[in-house]
Amino acid sequence: MCGIVGAVAKRNIVPVLVNGLLRLEYRGYDSAGLVVVHEGKLERVRSAGRVAELGQKSANTSGEVGIAHTRWATHGKPSERNAHPHMSRELIAVVHNGIIENYEELKAELSAQGYEFTSDTDTEVIAHLIHSHYAQGSLLVATQMALTQLVGAYAIGVIAADNPHLMVAARKGSPLLLGVGEGEHFVGSDMSALLQVTRNVVYLEEGDVVEIKADSFRIFDMAGVRVQRQMHVSELDNDSVELGKYQHYMQKEIHEQPQALANTLESVCNSQSLVPGIFGAEANDIFPHVDNILILACGTSNHAGQVARYWLEEVAGIPCNVEIASEYRYRTSVPNPKTLVVTISQSGETADTLAALNHAKATGHSYTLAICNVPESAIIRQSKLRLLTRAGPEIGVASTKAFTTQLAGLFLLTLVMAKVRGRLDETREQQFLHELRHLPTAMQKVLELEPQIAEIAAHFADKHHALFLGRGMHYPIAAEGALKLKEISYIHAEAYPAGELKHGPLALVDKDMPVVSVAPNDALLEKLKSNLQEVRARGGELFVFADADTHIHSSAGIHILQMPEHAGFLSPILHTAPLQLLAYYVALQKGTDVDKPRNLAKSVTVE
Ligand code: M6R
Repeated sequence: MCGIVGAVAKRNIVPVLVNGLLRLEYRGYDSAGLVVVHEGKLERVRSAGRVAELGQKSANTSGEVGIAHTRWATHGKPSERNAHPHMSRELIAVVHNGIIENYEELKAELSAQGYEFTSDTDTEVIAHLIHSHYAQGSLLVATQMALTQLVGAYAIGVIAADNPHLMVAARKGSPLLLGVGEGEHFVGSDMSALLQVTRNVVYLEEGDVVEIKADSFRIFDMAGVRVQRQMHVSELDNDSVELGKYQHYMQKEIHEQPQALANTLESVCNSQSLVPGIFGAEANDIFPHVDNILILACGTSNHAGQVARYWLEEVAGIPCNVEIASEYRYRTSVPNPKTLVVTISQSGETADTLAALNHAKATGHSYTLAICNVPESAIIRQSKLRLLTRAGPEIGVASTKAFTTQLAGLFLLTLVMAKVRGRLDETREQQFLHELRHLPTAMQKVLELEPQIAEIAAHFADKHHALFLGRGMHYPIAAEGALKLKEISYIHAEAYPAGELKHGPLALVDKDMPVVSVAPNDALLEKLKSNLQEVRARGGELFVFADADTHIHSSAGIHILQMPEHAGFLSPILHTAPLQLLAYYVALQKGTDVDKPRNLAKSVTVE
C-alpha cells in the first residue's frame, strides 16, 4: 500500500532514498517524506504532493542514514501533517507500511504518559512506543519491545537522532527486503527500489527484526533469536522498471504481453507434455484427489478466475466456484477437504486475498494453489502449490500483463486437471500445446490494432458512461474492459452478459451511451448479433471487437475492429488487449494520470 526505502552508508543517501521512492510510487502516491540524521538531529522533509516534489524540497538535505516513505492514506487524509516519517520528541523517526489495529488503545495509553500526537495516523504510536522504551535499551531492543505491543500488519524502518550510523527495520504482514551492498545496506518494499544500489537481497521473514549498520547487519526472528537468512541475487534488470520508449508504464506493460506470455509458458511450451509438477512437486499427489475448485481473488485477478471457471468446467469437467476474496471469509461456507483452493494475485500481498486463503485453511482446506507474479510473496509462501506468472514487474496501477499471464497460468491448470481426470487425449494435448506456443505471436498481431483503437478513443472522451457486453467466457473480459476504463479514465463503465441487457440495462442506452462489445466467433455469436441490434435500434453507438471470421461489418453507428485471428479457448486472452488499449487511449484523451489513477494504489495491503 505504501512504499518504504531506508539506507545506511558512508555517503549522502538522500538521492538513494528519493530514487527508491520514485520506483515505489506505484504503491501509493498521496504524499511522501524522508528523514535523515544530520549533525545529531533528525532532519525531516515531507510533501503533500508526489515524490518529484519531495526530491526538490530535499535537494539540500544530506545524511548517511535515513528512511523514506510514499503513502496511500488509510488513517488520516493525505496531507503533509499525516505524511511519514513520524517522529517522537525529535529523537525517534519511523516509516510504516501496514495498519496498526490497536492504535486507538495505544494512543490513549501514550497520551496519558504525556506523548503529544501531531498526526491522524496509526503510525505515530509506533514512534512514541519506541521512544518510551529507548531509555531502557538500544534502538533494536526498544523496537523489539514496541513490536510486542502492536496488533496488525507492519513493515517499518526506524532511526534515532543520537545514532547516526544505525537503522532498525522489521516486518510482519507487509513486505520488506534487505539490500546488501558493499559497505552499505538498504531496505525497500520491493526490489525495484533497491536495483539502483544492489542486486543482493535478503527476503525478511514474518516477524523478523533487523539491525542495520553500513558494514554489517543482524537479523532476529519473532522470538528474538538471532537467525541467518539466505541471500538471493535478484534477476530483475533495471530495464524492466524503466519506461524506455513508452509514455506510460501501462502502455509499456500492454506491449510486454507477448514476452510475458512467452516467459510464463516457457517451461511448458518447451516440453512435449503437461504434468502436474509445474504447480509444485506435491501436485502429483494432490490433483487426483481434487473434486472441485474454489478460486479466490480480487479485482482484475478475480476476472481471471471467472474466465477460468468456463475453462475448468468445460475442458476439465471439474466444478468450479469463483468468489470475491473480501466476501468469502465473511460468509458461512461449507468446506470440502477435496477442494483445491486457488488464489490469484499479481502482487501476492493483497490483504483480502491473503485473509481469504487463511480463512480457507482454517476451515479445513489443505489443498492450496497460488497463481502469482511475485516470488517470495506472502500468498506464494502460504500456499502448498504455486505457479509463478512471469510477467515481470507491473508498475502501472491498472493491471494488464499480470492479467493475461494469470489467464495463461489458469489455462495450464485447466489442461493439467483435464489430463489428470482422463479428459485430455494425446492429440488434444498436442493441439493445445501448439496453440499455447502460438499465443505470444497471436498477441503481437492483436497489438497492431493500436492505431485504430487510438482513433476510436476520441468517441469516448466526452462521455460519462459506457456499457461493455460479452457472452460466455468473454463476459468476464467485458467486465475487465469496463474496470480498466473506469479505473484510469474515470468514465463510469459497467459490463453485462449481452443477453441480460433487455432485462434492465437497455433502458440506459441512447446516443450518449457508447456500447463496447467483445464478439468472438463462437457458439453465441448469432445471439450476440441480435443483442447488438437491440442496442442499435435504441440509438446506441457500438464498438465491436470481432473475430476476423465473424462477417460483421461497420455501418452507421457500428464501429467494427477486426481481430486478426480466432483463438478458440484462448480467445479471452487475446480479446483483453484491445480493451486495455481502448481504456489507455481514452485516458490519454481525458488527460488523467494513467499510471497513478486517483484514490488507488497498486497493491492493496489493507482490508
Ligand atoms: O495484486 P492483486 O492481483 O491481488 O490485486 C488485486 C486487485 O487489487 C487488482 O487486480 C486491481 O483490481 C487492479 N489494479 C485493477 O487494474
